[in-house]
Amino acid sequence: MNVKGTASVLLAGVVAALAITGVAAADSARRESSEQKTIDRGRYLIRIAGCNDCHTPGYAQSGGGVPEAQWLTGDTLGWSGPWGTTYPANLRRVVAGMSEEEWIRRARSAQYRPPMPWFNLRDMTDADLRAAYRYVRSLGPAGGPAPAYVPPGGKVSGPVVTFPAPPK
Ligand code: HEC
Repeated sequence: MNVKGTASVLLAGVVAALAITGVAAADSARRESSEQKTIDRGRYLIRIAGCNDCHTPGYAQSGGGVPEAQWLTGDTLGWSGPWGTTYPANLRRVVAGMSEEEWIRRARSAQYRPPMPWFNLRDMTDADLRAAYRYVRSLGPAGGPAPAYVPPGGKVSGPVVTFPAPPK
């Protein structure tokens, strides 16, 4: 093969390699954008399902005016009633220590204490639960753990929302 021939074979090789790289890049961009769509859907669900109302400090009080970086980090505001006093968990830490399958398994079976609306989680579709999980995971862990549950009659320090006794 003459010099010109070798050069064009080389060139063809480079073009083919570029084409393959281009296809791979387009593939990975598509995957990323579908993952991004899932995460965006998760953000939307978390917002409208009211998870921030309890799990993000100050969210309900400020009309949702808390920066996303602080979302779902749990709250020290307790909820007191016949069940004792519960604290909305730091979901950023909870999902960091849990696989997606475990999240789904718990959402389907766990009955948390009030006022956690566990039945709302239970009734979400798998696709929505996965989107919510991926979104919270995408935020990364932040903040400390929420205070521990206090059984009825136990000593509570800090502010609580007290539920009135149910009507007889
Ligand atoms: C009305 C307040 C409230 C709302 C709204 C709420 N939660 Fe909770 N959540 C709590 C409280 C309080 C606890 C702690 C319950 C306990 O101690 O048993 C909790 C616990 C949890 C847990 C268990 C965490 C662990 O330690 O394993 C998960 C998961 C959870 N919430 C997810 C959510 C999601 C997702 C949403 C939105 C769909 C949501 N919560 C909405 C109050 C709330």
